[in-house]
Amino acid sequence: MAPKYKAPRGTQDVLPEVSWRWQRVEAAFRDTCRRYGYAEIRTPLFEETDLFVRGAGESTELVGKQMYTFDDRGGRSLTLRAEGTAPVVRAVLEHNLTAQGQVQKLFYIAPIFRYERPQAGRYRQHYQLGVEAIGAPGPDIDAEVIALYLEFQRDIGLTGGVPHLSSIGDPNCRPAFSAALREFFQDKIAGMCEFCQTRYEMNPLRILDCKVPHDVEARQGAPSALDYLCDECREHFAGVREHLDALGIEYEVDSTIVRGLDYYTRTAFEVIRTGIPALMGGGRYDGLAEMLGGPLTPGVGFGSGLERLVLVLGESDAPPGPDLYIAAAAPEARDPAFALAIAARRAGLSAEIDYTQRSLKAQMKEANRLGARVVALIGEDELKAGSVTLRDMQTGDQASVARSEAIPAIKKNVGESREDHP
Ligand code: HAM
Repeated sequence: MAPKYKAPRGTQDVLPEVSWRWQRVEAAFRDTCRRYGYAEIRTPLFEETDLFVRGAGESTELVGKQMYTFDDRGGRSLTLRAEGTAPVVRAVLEHNLTAQGQVQKLFYIAPIFRYERPQAGRYRQHYQLGVEAIGAPGPDIDAEVIALYLEFQRDIGLTGGVPHLSSIGDPNCRPAFSAALREFFQDKIAGMCEFCQTRYEMNPLRILDCKVPHDVEARQGAPSALDYLCDECREHFAGVREHLDALGIEYEVDSTIVRGLDYYTRTAFEVIRTGIPALMGGGRYDGLAEMLGGPLTPGVGFGSGLERLVLVLGESDAPPGPDLYIAAAAPEARDPAFALAIAARRAGLSAEIDYTQRSLKAQMKEANRLGARVVALIGEDELKAGSVTLRDMQTGDQASVARSEAIPAIKKNVGESREDHP
């Protein structure tokens, strides 16, 4: 019978055959964040709808078309986390974390919900690995978050992926850029999509983010934000570049970067790889805290899609097998096998046994399939002698040891083979 239910469109189950890869990526991210001094923050899965409307901006696709919004039983409008930055800034303001001028360096690994058209690497629920550095205005920290991402990317074995970098100015210089865009699109806007027509009135920068092919075509030759930067923004951008240069970080200045959210000011960056949507995107958002009703608090950060990272990493390696598989060669050996498994786990080893009364042959096959390093065999002889037979699955060497000595012997064996195969 075909199962009645499937995971909702645009979502996926992360099954054991790939979840270990997710864990590896998450662990590398946590470790990079630790080294850079970023502490974890966990915010709720849903927020007041208005937080995202104000934070991301009404003219964005995110707010216009993609939010999962619902009324709760108390009639409050709530929205599933549609992006990571506004909730983090909300939490920083709510708990006064930058009140004494401290810089808050935070990271998160969190599911994000967007009603998007599903395709390879684009989901309706995806996970973002993100950092937010809140409270520091200088270009050094912009370079730091880019360096952090690239180091993490390298740690998980991804090469290439040169960041694209731009500056989109601030409220001081943006009006001149917006005016230039309006002038550029004046004759074209009537033939563009309905959303662009609204964007033309509300925020012409958003026209540069439209995905409709005709509108993408229509923006060829549009003015570049970099040509409209005020002195302060130009200086800040030069500072970011100097820091990246000093760190020996390769990047590409790309004035076509617009970012999909309205809170960005100055630095904007993305990591793009061919054949897949952006791996990472971020930038500075110096006005966001004020937009959310707080004091002026600068910030910069990025978000990177976990599914996309795993996709790009590919499937070239196998999951790590257990340290130990305990095979019971007689029915009476099952209880001692079970006890040995628990004792091994308590001693820090990963241990597997059979739970379904399979034959010894089937158990050995399973130990092979799992990639166990050592098999401990308990059969009638071993029961009589109070021993176990240990087989090193890499070398095929066998040895009989007293059951009380089994765990130290296995630990030694596993330790040695770990050194051989780091
Ligand atoms: P974003 O560019 O919307 O920025 O998303 C960041 C990253 O999340 C993207 O580069 C991509 O890797 C991943 N991503 C986005 N949408 C999807 C999707 N539907 N399916 C799979 N992956 C996706 C933000 O959300 C900002 N909050 C980033 C940021 C943090 N800016 C400053 N701080």
